[in-house]
Amino acid sequence: PLTAKVNSSGCLEIGGCDVTSLVAQFGSPLYILDEETLRTACRQYRDSFKSYYAGESQVVYASKAWNCLAVCAIVHSESLAVEVVSGGELYTALQAGVAPEKLYFHGNNKSVQELELAIESQCTIIVDNWLELESLAGLAQEKPTSVPIMLRLTPGIECHTHEYIRTGHLDSKFGFDPHQIDRVFSLVSKNPQLKCIGLHAHIGSQIFELQPHHDLPGVMVEWLKKAADYGLPVNHLNIGGGLGIRYTETDDPPSIAEWSKVVCEAVTAACHAQQIPLPKLMCEPGRSLIGSACVTAYTIGSRKEVPEIRTYISVDGGMSDNPRPITYQSVYRAVVANRMSAPLTETVTVAGKHCESGDVLIKDISLPPTQPGDILVVLSTGAYNYSMASNYNRVPRPAAVLVKDGEVNVMIRRETYQDLVRCDRLPERLI
Ligand code: LLP
Repeated sequence: PLTAKVNSSGCLEIGGCDVTSLVAQFGSPLYILDEETLRTACRQYRDSFKSYYAGESQVVYASKAWNCLAVCAIVHSESLAVEVVSGGELYTALQAGVAPEKLYFHGNNKSVQELELAIESQCTIIVDNWLELESLAGLAQEKPTSVPIMLRLTPGIECHTHEYIRTGHLDSKFGFDPHQIDRVFSLVSKNPQLKCIGLHAHIGSQIFELQPHHDLPGVMVEWLKKAADYGLPVNHLNIGGGLGIRYTETDDPPSIAEWSKVVCEAVTAACHAQQIPLPKLMCEPGRSLIGSACVTAYTIGSRKEVPEIRTYISVDGGMSDNPRPITYQSVYRAVVANRMSAPLTETVTVAGKHCESGDVLIKDISLPPTQPGDILVVLSTGAYNYSMASNYNRVPRPAAVLVKDGEVNVMIRRETYQDLVRCDRLPERLI
């Protein structure tokens, strides 16, 4: 899906820009986001929901995948709404110009300050638990208008993905326990200052099976019917995100259209069975919108050959700009941008530069023979890379550039050493 090609000098081009020139200009590591790929995925979701669902629909970008001004502005310009999970993500989305009615605020432990910010900005709050419900009911008392909320429930639906990113099972930390549903609806219906417009559930992330998303609407539509019985003005149903993407040759996820068709048909069938009108259907993808739209370019440095065991090549970034391999044992693929036509005759392990043996980006990958100074491009790094990046070892976070039709714009500038000490204070007695 990336708008990539190999140009006449055998170098990789993304969005019409030569990757080796981008690194020469902006340094490395460098996140390179292909605007067209991101926009295409937004349109695929939007158009699929329009064609497979007879009711209204709204695609919501789960901005935890990559929250920054430019990304929020792009998805907003494609008519997507934006989901945020902290005051910081909310602030960024608002600064990017996302309209409050298109903002949804998640989180299992929102602070009172975050709730205040959410109420003030007039976004919709997705209430996760009892404490939040009670705090909000209190805060809403003092407000002139009602506060729009949705309720997150745990659906009790299992899926096959890494245990850290499963959320649908009953012992998940997220959402109300569905066994308490009557108490929840009853409390909400006694607080007219809280306007409960709908229900939400999310099963997990990087999911390839369609079955869990096929089963989810049946459960949720029953809840919706019950909420209506309590007199709640519920007409929104948010089925979460979770569609996986292809990181390696063996990954075979459904397409956006296939996934959308399954969920749209399942919601429609469940509503007919329960004899309720079609709600406004929402989904909340993150990874499948932005994951494949970005690559990370690194400069190759040192090399270590451990005879008969392995060859390490080290790059100038690692777990600080992509913590997914060390956190979830995620597998990535890479190419050498300045040797795209060379045969893949070497098997190497790509190590990061951090002081930690586990800082390995890719184990045993076939590459052409490389030299220090070559540009290694790790593919599909758009989701949960920049957003989970850190300054471990006081390594400045990389820059991110946006490429489109041969044009390049910086969307996040590289951090400097001054940035690293910006929040440090040296107590006087230590000077
Ligand atoms: N909605 C909710 C409520 C979520 O918690 C998430 C992801 C999404 C939507 C978007 O899911 P997606 O479409 O991106 O699968 N850091 C992990 C992923 C954590 C996902 C957290 N929630 C990783 O790097 O794999």
